[in-house]
Amino acid sequence: MADHKACLYEKYVWEVPVRVTHWVNMLSIVVLAVTGIIIGSPRTLGLSGSDYVMGWVRFVHFTAAYAFAVSVAARIWWMFRGNRYARWREFFPVISSGGRARLWETFKYYTFLNKKAPHEVGHNAVAASAYSLVFLLYIVMALTGFSLYAEHRPGSLMHVVMTPLYTLFSNQGMRLTHHMVMWLLIGFVINHIYSIWLMDIKERGGVVSSIFSGYKAVQRKE
Ligand code: HEM
Ligand code: HEM
Repeated sequence: MADHKACLYEKYVWEVPVRVTHWVNMLSIVVLAVTGIIIGSPRTLGLSGSDYVMGWVRFVHFTAAYAFAVSVAARIWWMFRGNRYARWREFFPVISSGGRARLWETFKYYTFLNKKAPHEVGHNAVAASAYSLVFLLYIVMALTGFSLYAEHRPGSLMHVVMTPLYTLFSNQGMRLTHHMVMWLLIGFVINHIYSIWLMDIKERGGVVSSIFSGYKAVQRKE
């Protein structure tokens, strides 16, 4: 049998915008979730309301929100500029027959029908499909978040832009949606870290380090 290591080479997969936006999103989501939970339930901190702590918590939430929004917009723009692993098509494997076959192979692995993990260069097909939903949730968070934010200034540009959302949601409906989607994102993150770790061990392609360095170890034929 040929030496496994000799058949592997380093391939540049994740370009700088993919990596930078991934980590900006991650950091801002952590800050947004922590400050968001406090905003939703100020008594979490046992605050009396006589100091300006909630003002600072909201300030941090809104600052992280702008970083998050810019980063998500930049990543969406890169879906039309980046390499094939960053492109929008990567997130919808279901639209091609090859993609559907990859989806099925990965699904079989995740449901214990197949013992061998498919070796992918970019996102695996199931992960990519999940990421398309995650990006949708990112957009829901930004839209409901900025709609809530603009309520402090009716008639402002942001308030006018968000008008369709005020007709779709009541104020409490908007808060509830914003709050619930946070828990969906937290659920995704738990699964994401588990799956990435699992794939790192099974694929032996160095996927965890790849999101820092951009490089994955792939087989010659790939
Ligand atoms: C561009 C993105 C976002 C914007 C503009 C935004 C904006 C806001 C605004 C304006 C509020 C209401 C603040 C108040 O009533 O004082 C809020 C609340 C909150 N945000 Fe965000 N946010 C964003 C993203 C996120 C993300 C990604 C998370 C969590 C992962 C999050 C979690 C929360 C939570 C839990 C609340 C409290 C909701 C409640 O129970 O009332 N936000 N956000
Ligand atoms: C708030 C936490 C996190 C969120 C919301 C998140 C979300 C995402 C999303 C949306 C992607 C697709 C990226 C793109 O194509 O632009 C991705 C990829 C990736 N993430 Fe995360 N991530 C988080 C934390 C982490 C952590 C802590 C690690 C490392 C242990 C990690 C490792 C990776 C890797 C290796 C990939 C690319 C590999 C692949 O799935 O094909 N992520 N993540």
